Amino acid sequence: MDKYTTLQYDVIIIGAGGSGLRAAIEASRNGAKTAIICKSLLGKAHTVMAEGGVAAALANLDDRDNWKVHFRDTMKGGKYLNHWRMAQLHAQEAPDRVNELEEWGAVFDRTQDGRILQRNFGGHTYPRLAHVGDRTGLELIRTLQDKGVHDGIDVYMEYTVRRILTSEGAVSGCLAYQRETGRFTIFNAKALVIATGGIGQCWDITSNSWEYTADGHALALWAGAQLLDMEFVQFHPTGMVWPPSVRGTLITEGVRGEGGVLKNSEGKRFMFNNVPEMYKGEFADTEEEANEWVKSVVANKIPKVRRPPELLTRDVVARAIRKEVLEGRGSPHGGVFLDIASRRPAAEIIRKLPSMYHQFKELADVDITKEPMEVGPTCHYMMGGVKVDPETQESTLTGLFAAGEVAAGLHGSNRLGGNSLSDLLVFGKRAGEYAAAFAKKMTDYPKVDPDQVNETVKGSKKPFEQTEGENPYSISEDLKKMMQDKVGIVRTESELKEALGELNKLRERANNVKVGGNVQFNPGWHLALDLRNMLDISEVVTKAALVRQESRGAHTREDFPGSDPEWGKVNLIAYLRGDAIEVEKVPLPIVPPELKELLKD
Ligand code: FUM
Repeated sequence: MDKYTTLQYDVIIIGAGGSGLRAAIEASRNGAKTAIICKSLLGKAHTVMAEGGVAAALANLDDRDNWKVHFRDTMKGGKYLNHWRMAQLHAQEAPDRVNELEEWGAVFDRTQDGRILQRNFGGHTYPRLAHVGDRTGLELIRTLQDKGVHDGIDVYMEYTVRRILTSEGAVSGCLAYQRETGRFTIFNAKALVIATGGIGQCWDITSNSWEYTADGHALALWAGAQLLDMEFVQFHPTGMVWPPSVRGTLITEGVRGEGGVLKNSEGKRFMFNNVPEMYKGEFADTEEEANEWVKSVVANKIPKVRRPPELLTRDVVARAIRKEVLEGRGSPHGGVFLDIASRRPAAEIIRKLPSMYHQFKELADVDITKEPMEVGPTCHYMMGGVKVDPETQESTLTGLFAAGEVAAGLHGSNRLGGNSLSDLLVFGKRAGEYAAAFAKKMTDYPKVDPDQVNETVKGSKKPFEQTEGENPYSISEDLKKMMQDKVGIVRTESELKEALGELNKLRERANNVKVGGNVQFNPGWHLALDLRNMLDISEVVTKAALVRQESRGAHTREDFPGSDPEWGKVNLIAYLRGDAIEVEKVPLPIVPPELKELLKD
């Protein structure tokens, strides 16, 4: 143990995206000695991929909006598998969190009379997304980062956590290695907050960057915490499909919020044919009506007609795009067309969607003010994650908290765009506050078990000891392709069973993975370790997808095409029994009558 540096903190946050930063600010404000550990550089987080805005019922553009409508939209978007209390807290507290962000220096776009401007997004009844052009996540991170740095939080950048340490059934800290030197450090902590984001790197086409290898999900599972709703993986309808090097890069839903339309190769707006029963009556039936809506929005008037069907929820739009492509009405590179050029003047497009303009100009040589974009679904967000208490964000493991994408419950089976940023603000704050309160109750630091440390270090170095074996890159490529093919937008029992078989083979290959060189900045070694998380969490997703025999939200089973009311009464939890991953049904928390009333229609 003396070989390793040991650092002590009241609260340690793993992850430096929006939820991690917000949790750190709150823990520090509550008097906790706080540190953030992050795998990448501070501020380099998937939060920036929430481009189009943060959802909060500020009612700046339409005074019919309020927390109750936001609550209802969130529950409906999640097809009622959401934890009602999280959805309630989120809708009630999001406006305060956004206003607070403004006080801390976030520069939002403005209405004519100086209030925060809000835009329309899929599944939100009213214009609800406070935004900064199409760079909202970036501005949010910048603001939180400045605030955190001023509050004096310690930051350990480019450290990867390999294990959550436990003692007497509670958290005692975590063990991490510094990516540059390969040296291990023991972080002894009274409370831990996981804020590591998602798992998108387990799929081939993804908006997630290299960091999102399911670290937090796996760390929690291995430490004994329960995971929830792991079958629900969100494919954002609009990622780039061309050129191949940037396939999957996100195109904000803000394009559709600003009036952009989806067309197939026949030039037809196909979303009118794809309105599900539960949304019938809420969306325009004709192009004339949809165009009328856009005119009102452009004129800053409250529309008197119904929203265009391009603003249906992401699960619906992603499936509709997939169907057009499969039925032969796709674009040349296997997507469909997203057209804003014919809807808004060039200057407005550049002003409202500057990043999209530059992204297409620089990466695809396409001028979106003149031509349509080619778009297709991209793996974007994980609804499933660590099961947490809705008030405190504490997991089922004492002293372990989780917030943001790695935590589950708020979004049910499908997340509404913009609810990720409000989620991480609301529940990041709560996680930091309750982690600090938990730490305050402890008189001393918990003991670190040397066996856990030694075992993890030894296991981590195994890839250097292999004399024969594969490099991790080929295994990782094969895993992503397999998950894309067999555990994608649409699933079947036979493919999911095949996927489990493939995962076993990939695991055998990963057990013999071999890396050369030494522990000093060695990307091959880092990937060899990440593979362990990715394989375990891919298995959890596949098993949960196999168990849920219905289609709901982001989980579509071709062999069980409808939603089943019986399945609507249960969540799935996953946990480790010995080395085996178990998945089990648990009853959905009961919605109190006064909130049920809000969901009546
Ligand atoms: O489309 C977007 O701007 C993404 C937003 C989100 O995922 O919340």
